[in-house]
Amino acid sequence: MLHEQVNRIILVDNIDHVPQPRLSDAELQFIKSQNPSESKIYAFNHFDHQIWLCYNSKKGESHLVKESFRKQGSAILSQLQNFGITEIYIEDYSTSAYSLYFAEGMALGTYRFDKYKSKKSDEKYLSQIFIYNPKISEREIVLANISIEATYWSRNLLNEPQSVINATTLTEEFQRMAEDAGFTIDVFNKRKIESLKMGGLLAVNMGSLIPPSFSVMTYKPENAINAKPYIFVGKGVVFDTGGLNIKTGDFMTNMHMDMGGAAAVSTALYAIAKAKLPVYVIAIVPATDNRPGQNAYAPNDIITLHNGKTVEILNTDAEGRLILADALSYAQSYAPELVIDLATLTGAAARAIGKYGIVAMRNSQADISLLNQSSLNVYERLAEFPMWEEYDELIKSDFADLKNIGGVEAGAITAGKFLEHFVDYPWIHLDIAGPAMLTANDSYRTKGGPGVGTRLLFDFILNVAEKHSMI
Ligand code: BES
Ligand code: ZN
Ligand code: ZN
Repeated sequence: MLHEQVNRIILVDNIDHVPQPRLSDAELQFIKSQNPSESKIYAFNHFDHQIWLCYNSKKGESHLVKESFRKQGSAILSQLQNFGITEIYIEDYSTSAYSLYFAEGMALGTYRFDKYKSKKSDEKYLSQIFIYNPKISEREIVLANISIEATYWSRNLLNEPQSVINATTLTEEFQRMAEDAGFTIDVFNKRKIESLKMGGLLAVNMGSLIPPSFSVMTYKPENAINAKPYIFVGKGVVFDTGGLNIKTGDFMTNMHMDMGGAAAVSTALYAIAKAKLPVYVIAIVPATDNRPGQNAYAPNDIITLHNGKTVEILNTDAEGRLILADALSYAQSYAPELVIDLATLTGAAARAIGKYGIVAMRNSQADISLLNQSSLNVYERLAEFPMWEEYDELIKSDFADLKNIGGVEAGAITAGKFLEHFVDYPWIHLDIAGPAMLTANDSYRTKGGPGVGTRLLFDFILNVAEKHSMI
């Protein structure tokens, strides 16, 4: 058992479960007399150490309860910081081992991107969390740590400016992940991309001084439960100026985070490999910046993508779908079990549902139920949009097979519809434009890139493995 003088959090979901020896009778009586409502944090100063009683009695759907514990974990951080606490012990007396979520909220909420501050603040941050609950296994702790580490890496990638993370240096980050977690990586250079006739990636790259890259990361464990791979495809636009259709006003701000899909799929694969999950998974990232330039692709250009389909460019700012189309078409050769693409694809998706969730679409071959479960688990919820065939009219071109923009309506859907022309396998499209970048902290989702998608995909593959072992 713990010695007395450590800083600790006592976590309860029932006020009668506060353990006797930790708090004095007076303190206990005080809490009970308060008759706290749903959730409350009490602080007790024991001079040489602090004790917090975190009470959370939220009831209802389990994903909502879990999320409320993450949020409470994040909410207590400022109090720990006031005391300069770097290590905390959580004694968990909750009924369903909620400290796992509480600690996750604490850990994710602690993230800072301050490497460019020349004067480091002398604030101390939490670096270690100890959990006491016999119901929580070692493995659960290991998985939680991996998921948090991967999310931190995703956030770092998102927050680095385009002067640091470009189409080349991004692949160097992937190499680091591959070495650390033990997966293989193949990076195609411009010549190889040309030989594969990836006309979308090449066109978008034409205004750039830095060549495009196309990364294929493969994790294929010997004990894989699946013969056909799950494939994640991530949009890797390292900076989106809009190209010749240049973004105006402050719409260009934050566009270094237009590789949010790439950050999610690579760090999810990192987590999957680190956790040695018995699932064959591939992550694919087409990467480039999108700039105006002497040679930049232009409106009315007609380009040919990897699968031979032609596209009339009507707006160079609708570049994501072009590079994704090449990658989705490339994924066909694996005869995949399922492909999930993640992309900061349209402002329309962000306008439709805001930062609160992910816009999802899929073709009729794909089953989304398992991903939906995971999306609730990690609280990165999916809002499924329709794929009615009438939308196809909006992206028909007079001069080519397709055009790269629709009309003013249904912008997120026409982008998804465009991609549908490049897949012939079970496929789910996730437009993460809404939640991929935050202008302020939202509880444990820290401002800048909160790393959306990493935990979702990791949990999904955990789910796939678990479901398989149950059959
Ligand atoms: N990267 C943007 C989408 C985006 C916008 C992500 C805002 C996050 C926040 C994408 O490449 C883009 O510019 N899309 C255009 C498409 C339009 C030209 C059809 C958009 O949404 O305005
Ligand atoms: Zn764009
Ligand atoms: Zn973009």
